[in-house]
Amino acid sequence: MKNYDIKDSSLAQEGRLRIDWAGKEMPVIKLIKERFSREKPLSGVRVSACLHITTETANLALALKEGGAEVVLCASNPLSTQDDVAAALVEYGVPVNAIKGEDNETYYKHIITALEHKPQITMDDGADLVSTLHKDYPKLAADVIGGTEETTTGVIRLRNMARAGKLIYPIIAVNDAQTKHFFDNRYGTGQSTIDGITRATNVLWAGRKVVVCGYGFCGRGIARRAQGLGAQVIVTEVRPIAALEAAMDGYQVMPLIKACQVGEVFITATGDMNVIDKMHILEMKDGAILANSGHFNSEINIPALESLAKSKKRVRSSVDEYTLKDGQRIYLLGEGRLINLAAAEGHPASVMDMSFANQALCLEYITRMQSKLEPAVYPVPEEIDQEVGKLKLASMNITIDSLTEEQKNYLASWELGT
Ligand SMILES: NC(=O)c1ccc[n+]([C@@H]2O[C@H](COP(=O)([O-])OP(=O)(O)OC[C@H]3O[C@@H](n4cnc5c(N)ncnc54)[C@H](O)[C@@H]3O)[C@@H](O)[C@H]2O)c1
Repeated sequence: MKNYDIKDSSLAQEGRLRIDWAGKEMPVIKLIKERFSREKPLSGVRVSACLHITTETANLALALKEGGAEVVLCASNPLSTQDDVAAALVEYGVPVNAIKGEDNETYYKHIITALEHKPQITMDDGADLVSTLHKDYPKLAADVIGGTEETTTGVIRLRNMARAGKLIYPIIAVNDAQTKHFFDNRYGTGQSTIDGITRATNVLWAGRKVVVCGYGFCGRGIARRAQGLGAQVIVTEVRPIAALEAAMDGYQVMPLIKACQVGEVFITATGDMNVIDKMHILEMKDGAILANSGHFNSEINIPALESLAKSKKRVRSSVDEYTLKDGQRIYLLGEGRLINLAAAEGHPASVMDMSFANQALCLEYITRMQSKLEPAVYPVPEEIDQEVGKLKLASMNITIDSLTEEQKNYLASWELGT
């Protein structure tokens, strides 16, 4: 019986080429794959992974398979699947249930199919798979030894579950590894968000007034890249210290309602809901462009935008024009879903190399620990984080200094002063 659901098997050849291309930028995953191939640390482990179906995820899945894991994949967002990659993975023997543009019902049907694999390890990006297991299929947890979570929003949801006493197995917060969020969230989201908006609209960034909502790791990356292209960047925040940092990094900082009067492109990256709300939309100038790079499509209040509009039409792929009652036009990109994946290819492979090296090594760690971890959200073990950093540096041919014995003693002492 067919154990996959994809758009079109004939796209496999294109997908294979693109997976290979991304693989060239993933030297750390390559090293891990080679070792996994020899040592088979995941032999027979059933893994259900809910991740964006991209070329980088394909390289991760193939490394896990090489390590002996039985991996099935579903999408972590209805718009982020690359259908050619899904087709190629199926040919490689990794069942995928994901189609770009699937509706919500199909999205959850695919998650359920991934759960029918009876996972021993879950991999999630946003916690939709884990929350579906907990809400609707808690009995499956009997087989689960642990899981991993890729993104900020997923980690927040899982910590909330743990706090409420609802989390029934241990999960490692891969997002919180330094070699993940310092790089993936900042440089990966920074570059690919600008890429997505450019592909969707072909706007010139130089001189454009860009409002970045949220100055966390993603927001910092987006603001920096937009500024690098010549945009005038305004940052909005709710945390005083993040706002201060933005101001000292050289951006204008103000409440969003004020920024709406001048902004031309608005980009949300907060992990919050209704950040751009009805009152903001009403203040915006004709032609304002709205994009979201946060995990869920809740950062822009789309129902409010719909209710304000007298008409809506698709004017380019990934661009919907909403005409409000007074004639003002607002352009929503990628249906408010993370724009770097909806309109571009997501993060460049080189940065996903580190995120997914953490994922692969954490799966090995969970398998090794078996049932020794209590249900809780765990950090990535420090030695894994450091190892990923070292391997990445080596792959970039960068060498660094090391402490002398004298310096080690000095740094470990308190007696020596002026
Ligand atoms: N697009 C991608 O590929 C991608 C990659 C990584 C993370 N993410 C997602 O992006 C989102 C942000 O991630 P992060 O790592 O930057 O998180 P973060 O916690 O580092 O930063 C979020 C920031 O948003 C601010 N914020 C919250 N509500 C706000 C509001 N109403 N107005 C203004 N600012 C507000 C917070 O104070 C915080 O500084 C999450 O949903 C995460 O899962 C997306």
